[in-house]
Amino acid sequence: MSNPARKPHQSMSSTSPTPPKTKNRTELAVVILAAGKGTRMKSALPKVLHKIAGQPMIAHIIKTVESLKPQKIITVIAPDMDNVKQAVAPHPVTIQKQQKGTADAVKSALKELPDFKGQILILYGDVPLVSYSTLDNLLNHHRSDKNFGATVLAMAAPNPTGYGRIFQNADGTLNRIIEEKDASDDEKLVRLVNSGLMVLEGENLGDHLDKIKNKNAQQEFYLVDLPEILAKDNLSTGVIRGDFQELRGINSRTQLAELELAWQHNKRLSIMESGVTLIDPNTVYFSADTVIGRDTIIEQGVIFGQGVTIEDNVEIKAYSHIEGAIIKSGATIGPFARIRPDTIIKEQARIGNFVEVKNSTIGKGAKANHLGYIGDTELGAQSNFGCGAITVNYDGKTKSKTKIGKNVMIGSNSSLIAPIEIGDGAYIAAGSTLTRNVEKDTLVIARAETKSLAGKAKDRMKKE
Ligand code: UD1
Ligand code: CA
Repeated sequence: MSNPARKPHQSMSSTSPTPPKTKNRTELAVVILAAGKGTRMKSALPKVLHKIAGQPMIAHIIKTVESLKPQKIITVIAPDMDNVKQAVAPHPVTIQKQQKGTADAVKSALKELPDFKGQILILYGDVPLVSYSTLDNLLNHHRSDKNFGATVLAMAAPNPTGYGRIFQNADGTLNRIIEEKDASDDEKLVRLVNSGLMVLEGENLGDHLDKIKNKNAQQEFYLVDLPEILAKDNLSTGVIRGDFQELRGINSRTQLAELELAWQHNKRLSIMESGVTLIDPNTVYFSADTVIGRDTIIEQGVIFGQGVTIEDNVEIKAYSHIEGAIIKSGATIGPFARIRPDTIIKEQARIGNFVEVKNSTIGKGAKANHLGYIGDTELGAQSNFGCGAITVNYDGKTKSKTKIGKNVMIGSNSSLIAPIEIGDGAYIAAGSTLTRNVEKDTLVIARAETKSLAGKAKDRMKKE
């Protein structure tokens, strides 16, 4: 069908249209380099398993790249890194037998990518905070020019020491990357540095990598020498800039702590953006998977371990520690509460100061306001677990369950020796030690009778 509004622009031209500048193929594979020893961490644990926000660095990267939906995510590890293999599963790993450099590492990953002709995104296991949008920009820049055989992600470093320095041509493409150890004093002044992250064309990559030599200070096969090899094939290398705070790597425990703080800072901002009040944001610590609902208020000094979901309108008072728990809307926690894994605190329930709850469900509107331990327990709706009461869930060998019905009153300083069940509406007098089940609506007073002997106090003192 003809389109009279558009046709005139093209119909008179006799020359063929200029070919599009952009790339046709956009299949993507990701290779994460993680075989390095991480010597400066001084650790028995591989560097990429050290944690940020409670999750291994490598898990942060995997999660980010999964959202790019690549065909494959391959992690390059050293032979003794079975624990890294487990951390990235079900994604595959390849083993680089000897750490002969970043180019050699990429080569070992190509075994997993036979005949792959799309783009290969190279990431570093020790650059964990790279964002989806930065990677998306890198890929789009690379795909915008058919002639790019590679594109590197550069950054302006306040202190460039240790990084490869980037030198550009007049048209902005890459001229050379010179590693710190191979740079002259003048070259070292350059602050635009290589983040190490880059995207490569899969086609002929193996052949290109084979041409890289190890004639450098470290006698390693440097991936950063690839652009020079590509240039011989008339392919250029693009350069795009990213943010230093996001792309800086982790080589030491100090840098690990710096990136943890940077992560926490960003998380605090995004949590507040989403409608949560943090009274003193810098004192609250989140995990990578923490979820918090709207109009929840979090006071000072609160720590969220792994696996916490907080619904809307919850109040978390100062200095509480929460992990592995779901807190339903309208509940109040703390101050000084400890909520441990496999706990559900239902709507409007209250857990007060110095109360520890583990593997338990606290019913709607139930209360445990002061000084208690609730473990392996179901506490029914509207029940009151008095001050100083505890569930005795452990006999030194096995853990046993406590089941408390609705509208139950557990008097202060009671001990409920599990396994035990207490029926709806029961009333347990303060100071009771319970070893047997209690029927519903029953009053139980399980404590020694008081004896009062008038005037005998002095005699007692004399005896002693
Ligand atoms: C590298 C870059 C440098 C860049 C810097 C950014 C090279 C030659 N240099 O230097 O330009 O500024 O990163 O942080 O690429 N790895 C392997 N196998 C090896 C060697 C390394 O898997 O044989 C992995 C490491 O685990 C690490 C990454 O590759 O994740 C980078 O290696 P590393 O030795 O830390 O390179 P840098 O000296 O930091
Ligand atoms: Ca490094």
